[in-house]
Amino acid sequence: MQTTGGNDVTLEFLKSVPLFKDAPARALELAASVLTRREFPPQTTVFQEGDAGEALYIIVSGLVKLSKVDLGGHEKTLALLQSPEFFGEMALIGNASRSATALTLAPTEALLLYADDFKRLMESFPTVSLNLTATLAERLRGMDDEAQILSYKDAQGRVAYVLLRLHETGVAEPDEHGVPQVLLTHQELASLAGTSRETVTRALKALEGEGVIRTRTREILLTDPEGLAEILHEIR
Ligand code: CMP
Repeated sequence: MQTTGGNDVTLEFLKSVPLFKDAPARALELAASVLTRREFPPQTTVFQEGDAGEALYIIVSGLVKLSKVDLGGHEKTLALLQSPEFFGEMALIGNASRSATALTLAPTEALLLYADDFKRLMESFPTVSLNLTATLAERLRGMDDEAQILSYKDAQGRVAYVLLRLHETGVAEPDEHGVPQVLLTHQELASLAGTSRETVTRALKALEGEGVIRTRTREILLTDPEGLAEILHEIR
């Protein structure tokens, strides 16, 4: 990244961040002057559910899992986020504690926006506030869809849904032949689908039997996303 006024954040990158979509140049310049860059090795807990919130995080590269654990110890993954998405804004709104735990799944670089600077940007630039509201609405819509799907689909449908979401959000990146691949463990998929690891393993076998995916160790190839969607919507 290029250096901008003593701060190595490019304005071009900030323009791609949903929080700063169509924001005036002054907002981007102010953000660039206050953001702090941090690097996290894989499997680092960035913060834990219940912690006090000090900053929000804009992902420059890498992959971050946001999850919650219930009293029985079951983990539910709420989202897997990558660049240029951001997280950690909820605790800064109304000074609440962290609503979920953030863990890096890959080497991750992030830009931290501290609470006071975040509030100043929101107060000074309505576009930034509207962008934040739009992101929260989009997440709520996603959770509504997921609640509906996960409440009545069988294991195969739930796993098909999770694989398709990973495809749509770009977490399933193309392999050398252009086939989207999911590089997650069965346990991680179980946490996304709200089911057990054993159930995920069985569902993946069934989906492979249908010819819509191919599995290898720690790797699932989405060979037929349309077929997966047909299974999800029970039209096949
Ligand atoms: P915060 O509560 O500060 O810390 C946990 C963060 O997880 C939260 O802010 C959001 O940024 C993020 N988060 C919580 N729920 C979701 C969700 N359903 N989708 C995407 N991100 C989420």
